[in-house]
Amino acid sequence: MSVALLTGKGPPSALYAGCSSLDHSELIFRENPHDYPHASCSVVTDPDDCLTVANTCLQKDNFYNFAKPWLGEGLVTGIVPIWKHHRKLLNPAFSQLVVDGFQGVFNSQARRLVKDMETEVGKGPFDQWAYTKRNALETICLTALGVDFCENSVLNSQYEHASEQMFNVLVERFQKFWLHSDFIYNWSSLKKKQERCLKILHNMSNTILKTRKASYLNNKKNGLEASTGTKFKAFLDLLLELSIEKGAFNDLEIREQVDTMIVGGHDTSAIVLMFTLVMIGSYPKVQLRIIEELYDIFGNDDRDVTKQDLSQLVYLEAVLKETMRVYPIVPVTARLLDRNVKLKNVTLTAGRTCGMFLYGVHRHAMWGPDAEEFKPERWLDPATLPDSPNAFAAFNMGRRICIGKTYAYLSMKTTLVHLLRHYRVQADHTKMVLKIDVMLKPECGHYISIEKR
Ligand code: HEM
Repeated sequence: MSVALLTGKGPPSALYAGCSSLDHSELIFRENPHDYPHASCSVVTDPDDCLTVANTCLQKDNFYNFAKPWLGEGLVTGIVPIWKHHRKLLNPAFSQLVVDGFQGVFNSQARRLVKDMETEVGKGPFDQWAYTKRNALETICLTALGVDFCENSVLNSQYEHASEQMFNVLVERFQKFWLHSDFIYNWSSLKKKQERCLKILHNMSNTILKTRKASYLNNKKNGLEASTGTKFKAFLDLLLELSIEKGAFNDLEIREQVDTMIVGGHDTSAIVLMFTLVMIGSYPKVQLRIIEELYDIFGNDDRDVTKQDLSQLVYLEAVLKETMRVYPIVPVTARLLDRNVKLKNVTLTAGRTCGMFLYGVHRHAMWGPDAEEFKPERWLDPATLPDSPNAFAAFNMGRRICIGKTYAYLSMKTTLVHLLRHYRVQADHTKMVLKIDVMLKPECGHYISIEKR
């Protein structure tokens, strides 16, 4: 495959820094892509050009199809006509009002994480991933699905293992070009591994769906509020309501959306939380400033975090944003160009792939000469931020922007407040080795140490 990188004014070195799966000899750097008209894939790093592509071509690239046996026509992988219809129906399930209703769960889950990590206090560096991932998975199940994931620990650890394996399968298939053909792939041992994983993953979502549907119908029959009984309307309740009352979704479509929410909603927040704790532990002055902010809001009180508190956590939010800028967990996303797309300096030709290299967007010249540095303060003064709002794209941009953005901020901020009120964190970000397995993750060196505060 040949790839033309449309660098705009961004430094090329930064563009491929996070790109482990591409052979650099195949990358051709051109300020002017007319110099390289035969590239089958263009990679864009100019923030405004990325938005143009994102809003002009809504169809994801073909390699997203590798995930279809798992996620079907769910929001992440769905074809455009289905996506348009479903996204409109599902947007209300992630509105600020609904997400505010999850605050009680975010607090109790954060307290659970504090308690779980207690065994690590004073014992030196430990792998925080096991804790953050499990906690985020439980949270998404409690909020979006209205199910307490802790109830069946065997099923859960099987699920966690299978989802990790499934990501590896997707990456391996992507990297081995001969497995791109369905015909060859269907005979491969990797396909067999995929089937074993899917059996576990779909079994879990089918079980949740069956139980919830039965309870919904039962409540309805008895004239009760036809919901799962939680204070908020879980995402799955909304899906069932739309399915049973309006025939908007069939069972398979519900399962695909449930699988999509579990995948989109837990690994993502857990990885960002992991990176953030490493950065906070590596920069004592940043940690001190967060603690001062927490003290101003909470004093010495260990009370729950409220909606009002969250809006006051300005510095903590700056730290989260800066972490996601430096480590965008989705470093690249790709669209199929179903029409010619006119960018600032060039027109991309229909029929090709366009990668929006978010890792490069976050290091674009617009960020200034200190773009590689971790500086949460830059978020506090609008004058030090790029003029273009598209220069920050951790949740992607345009019409297919992450549906869970508000959810993610609220849950991550709440978790960090509880953790940092209890523990002093230490880490060394220079020891992190990164890998891309669908998402950008630390391969190792994501260890932190905690002490009681
Ligand atoms: C810090 C946490 C998160 C980050 C950084 C993040 C990032 C992203 C990105 C970059 C995309 C675009 C993917 C692509 O175009 O290939 C996306 C899409 C999506 N995300 Fe998130 N996400 C996060 C949390 C969540 C949560 C908590 C949920 C659900 C509860 C969620 C659900 C989704 C869904 C359903 C899509 C597909 C949207 C569409 O195409 O309409 N995400 N996310």
